[in-house]
Amino acid sequence: MRIGIPQEIHAGERRVATTPEVAGKLIKLGFTVALQKGAGIAADLADEAYSEVGVEIVEDVSRLWADSDIVLKVRAPEPHPGLGCHEVDLLREGATLVSFLWPAQNPELMDRLAGRKATVLAMDSVPRISRAQKLDALSSMANIAGYRAVIEAAQNFGRFFTGQVTAAGKVPPAKVFVIGAGVAGLAAIGAANGLGAIVRAMDTRPEVKDQVKSLGAEFVSVDYQEEGEGTGGYAKVMSEGYQKAQAEAIAKQCREVDVVITTALIPGKPAPKLITEEMVQSMQDGSVIVDLASEQGGNCACTVPGQVVQRHGVSIVGYTDLPSRMARQSSQLYATNLLRLLEELCTAKDGLAVVNMEDEMIRGATVVKDGEITWPPPAPRLSAAPPAGAKPAAAAPVVPEKKPLIPPALQPLVVLIAAGLALAWLGTVAPAAFMSHLMVFVLACFVGYMVIWNVTPALHTPLMSVTNAISSIIAIGALIQVSAPGFMMTLLAGIALILTTINMVGGFAVTQRMLRMFRRSE
Ligand code: NAI
Repeated sequence: MRIGIPQEIHAGERRVATTPEVAGKLIKLGFTVALQKGAGIAADLADEAYSEVGVEIVEDVSRLWADSDIVLKVRAPEPHPGLGCHEVDLLREGATLVSFLWPAQNPELMDRLAGRKATVLAMDSVPRISRAQKLDALSSMANIAGYRAVIEAAQNFGRFFTGQVTAAGKVPPAKVFVIGAGVAGLAAIGAANGLGAIVRAMDTRPEVKDQVKSLGAEFVSVDYQEEGEGTGGYAKVMSEGYQKAQAEAIAKQCREVDVVITTALIPGKPAPKLITEEMVQSMQDGSVIVDLASEQGGNCACTVPGQVVQRHGVSIVGYTDLPSRMARQSSQLYATNLLRLLEELCTAKDGLAVVNMEDEMIRGATVVKDGEITWPPPAPRLSAAPPAGAKPAAAAPVVPEKKPLIPPALQPLVVLIAAGLALAWLGTVAPAAFMSHLMVFVLACFVGYMVIWNVTPALHTPLMSVTNAISSIIAIGALIQVSAPGFMMTLLAGIALILTTINMVGGFAVTQRMLRMFRRSE
């Protein structure tokens, strides 16, 4: 099949849907790849680099679209300013299109694509399940936007981010407050921390607290009992009481910090207005607000989408194209997400893409199939987040509590006495060897608990694999038994040895791989 990559025509868009490196890999999958002449220039990717890996460079854009079985794009199709027609009309009938599409916001575009008998995979509709993380272009772009938000803040901020003591005087570190600790917010926290700022963050979903802390930021809690988790791991609209308490907490932060980066979004809803004009007014002159929710109406009342404006001495950055401002990086990540998708569509590596609607991941992303609108997809069977309803969704009403039998202050003491009595009884009836084994077991549980409890949450995943490796200590048992009399014993001990060795070596190898992700120089 032939893949075509046209130049992006949306005003100011600098990204391109594939890079030379990824194009080479697409060709290895058996596809022919054609690129519109100059499509990568804005992302600093020259035509020659594409030609070197075997990409055909096509000058005539209409021919590029017409000859392609699959068209890869970044932005949703739109009217072509040069040709005077809509990009959808350039798509060959029955061809496949892969791009961002936002089907909920673009019903007319969906009808138009269906009219072309097209098959369309929307990168924004990839379900957020673990298996689909490699295709998650929303996360790739949010990560870049979060990082770039800090760079934009630094650009508009007249001071260092890091604190310094110099002969010319002492400079305090900048204080950065991040609202919304999703993918973009966490990237912003990491980048601001890396620049040496003091970082604080807030989110309505309390489960992000550990992630915020593991990135070196302080979590700012709202003094109100309500959890912000809605469906699919996303946030929900909060109650009025919560909003009021949150406004107080944000107002306090605005008075204290130098930079605010807001990323708070609720899918399918306008961005919550969290920063009022009075809060902007309370900030020190020279402070900066970067509003990543600008395109969805903004988290700040003073944001102007696409622009940097000055209000009450504060710079408010409302850019809506942050990933495009790092076009080479974002093109690379987006192209890799597309490559992973095409690998899923072409498992035989024969250059033929098959859209398998039985596959939950592909089904979720497919919004039009052979001219039939298939959006919205059925809800994913596996959710990245715990099922809604597992936790109380709204402020819990005050229920009169039953009076406990034992006063709460005395409860630990009673448990301790009961455990002591049970142990004393066990000591009188159980054999001596059992008691010493029990003691070792209890101590092992205690030490294990203390060790794991003190590991930073970010390191819990590598910890799991190393624990897996250590659990292979049962190899010692197998070693003892391998020379025992009887063929069956030797056989079983031999098999146990092989399996535990695989477990041990694999566990340590995976741990090393994960730990490398945390090291800067590798
Ligand atoms: P998003 O862009 O929709 O929202 C950004 C953040 O704003 C969220 O953390 C949200 O809780 C927060 N927020 C919303 N309203 C707020 C308010 N009033 N005040 C303060 N904060 C508010 O979210 P994003 O970054 O796309 O991801 C959200 C979550 O989805 C992730 O944290 C993760 O749990 C899940 N996810 C799962 C993936 C997977 O398994 N493949 C991939 C990416 C994300």
